[in-house]
Amino acid sequence: MKPMTQYCFIVWCFWFAISHGSAPSKFVHSSSHFHDWKKFYFVYHWPVTVCKMSENECSNPPMYWTIHGLWTDKAEDCNKTWHFNVTEIKDLLVDMRQYWPDVLHENRTKFWKHEWDKHGTCAATLESLNSQKKYFSKALELYEKLDLNSYLVKLGIKPGNTYYQLGSIKEALTSVYNVTPKIQCLSPEQGEEVQTIGQIKFCFTKDFILRNCTESKVDSYFAHGNMIFGTEELSICNDTLTNYPSHVQLSK
Ligand SMILES: *[C@@H]1O[C@H](CO)[C@@H](O)[C@H](O)[C@H]1NC(C)=O
Ligand SMILES: *[C@@H]1O[C@H](CO)[C@@H](O)[C@H](O)[C@H]1NC(C)=O
Ligand SMILES: *[C@@H]1O[C@H](CO)[C@@H](O)[C@H](O)[C@H]1NC(C)=O
Ligand SMILES: *[C@@H]1O[C@H](CO)[C@@H](O)[C@H](O)[C@H]1NC(C)=O
Ligand SMILES: *[C@@H]1O[C@H](CO)[C@@H](O)[C@H](O)[C@H]1NC(C)=O
Repeated sequence: MKPMTQYCFIVWCFWFAISHGSAPSKFVHSSSHFHDWKKFYFVYHWPVTVCKMSENECSNPPMYWTIHGLWTDKAEDCNKTWHFNVTEIKDLLVDMRQYWPDVLHENRTKFWKHEWDKHGTCAATLESLNSQKKYFSKALELYEKLDLNSYLVKLGIKPGNTYYQLGSIKEALTSVYNVTPKIQCLSPEQGEEVQTIGQIKFCFTKDFILRNCTESKVDSYFAHGNMIFGTEELSICNDTLTNYPSHVQLSK
């Protein structure tokens, strides 16, 4: 390399490191102004794992995958003056309680409020989702359409004492949906040998067409934190054996 090119290269690397390395904190500060989102995540979580991660007592978590949320990438808390109002979704409550329960807290309304405040207000920039009723209906519709619970059973993937290779779960799901979802796990806790499956995220275009989820730093940053459930403990699963637990206290 000529000295000048080398110099440019070093400067470029430096710039690249700075701009990319600091991206998450930059987005934290400006997230409410950064509404240029490109895709949706439809997020399922496994209630038994949610319970396992919590200090709360969960007496009887549902034994089916439930909705965590319908999230936009790269945007959160987009309109702080648009308040959640449970009356607006009163027609949906029967389904909401069944498919979008808060497995940890008595007051489910808080969970829905949280999801609306953080994600719904961003999604609502689309005309198709510009009311609370439209937003929550759409999530319920996607839940029904994806029908993950039925497919998992059909694929022979069932909760219990059998461990699964993460790769085989992924391949099985890809064979059904023709897209690869993101699968998140809880790292092995003390006394455990394997990771525990916790969330499955499907990616959609703004027109609600399933698409592959592409990895990027920004994605993985926004993919995480959720204070209500402490799901920041979940991370992309490793390609190893995976527990799909049917009981909260499996290892204790
Ligand atoms: C925020 O929500 C309020 C209440 O629905 C609405 O009047 C306002 O236009 C919204 N602001 C933006 C920037 O979308
Ligand atoms: C909540 O929504 C209902 C039905 O749309 C409406 O009648 C009521 O005024 C709203 N409440 C608040 C506090 O905005
Ligand atoms: C549940 O949470 C909502 C939203 O924070 C709140 O408005 C409501 O009063 C709570 N209900 C109960 C029974 O505590
Ligand atoms: C997703 O990616 C897989 C593997 O790269 C590809 O076969 C499939 O067609 C893609 N699906 C869509 C909907 O783009
Ligand atoms: C995946 O492996 C890395 C390196 O061993 C570890 O730090 C991480 O916690 C593991 N993730 C999960 C979900 O188990």
